[in-house]
Amino acid sequence: MTVRLKVNGMAREGRCPPRKLLVDFLREDLALTGTHVGCEHGICGACTILFNGEAARSCLLLAVQADGAELMTVEGLVRDGALHPLQEAFREHHGLQCGFCTPGMLLTALDLLRAHPEPTEDDIREGLSAVLCRCTGYHGIIKAVQAAAPRLR
Ligand code: FES
Ligand code: FES
Repeated sequence: MTVRLKVNGMAREGRCPPRKLLVDFLREDLALTGTHVGCEHGICGACTILFNGEAARSCLLLAVQADGAELMTVEGLVRDGALHPLQEAFREHHGLQCGFCTPGMLLTALDLLRAHPEPTEDDIREGLSAVLCRCTGYHGIIKAVQAAAPRLR
C-alpha cells in the first residue's frame, strides 16, 4: 500500500504492507527513529505522536490509517536547530534520564498544554499518567511542564 502523509510539516510517502504499524513505518520507512517503541500494545506511551493535532499511540495505529493525515513526531519540535521551549524546560528541570520515555512525554505534554494552557499540578499529573517513565519518578518532568506552560501561552 502507498501511504502519503505530512510529517513535521513535510510531505512524505512510503509503501508498506497493510498490516504494518504506524510506529514501525515512521521508524523503518521514514527513518524517524525519535519515536520509541516500548510495549507495543498501548500501555507505556513511548510511541506517542501528534496525529492531526492530538496525542495518539502510534503502536495502536496502522500506517495505512495515517494516509492523508498530518503527524508530528519529536523530530518536529526542533526549529532551525534550536530546541523547543518544552525541550529546554525538560533540560533545565532534569525531566529526563535515560530518555526512553521522553519523545512520548514531550508530545503528550504538548497536547496537554494546548488543551490546558494554565494547568494545575493535578492536570499535569493526570495528563502525563498516559506515559510511563522508569527513571525519574516524574518530579522533574512535572516541574518541566509547569515551567514550559507560561512560555507556550
Ligand atoms: S509502544 Fe505504544 S504505548 Fe507502548
Ligand atoms: S527517562 Fe528513562 S524511562 Fe523516562
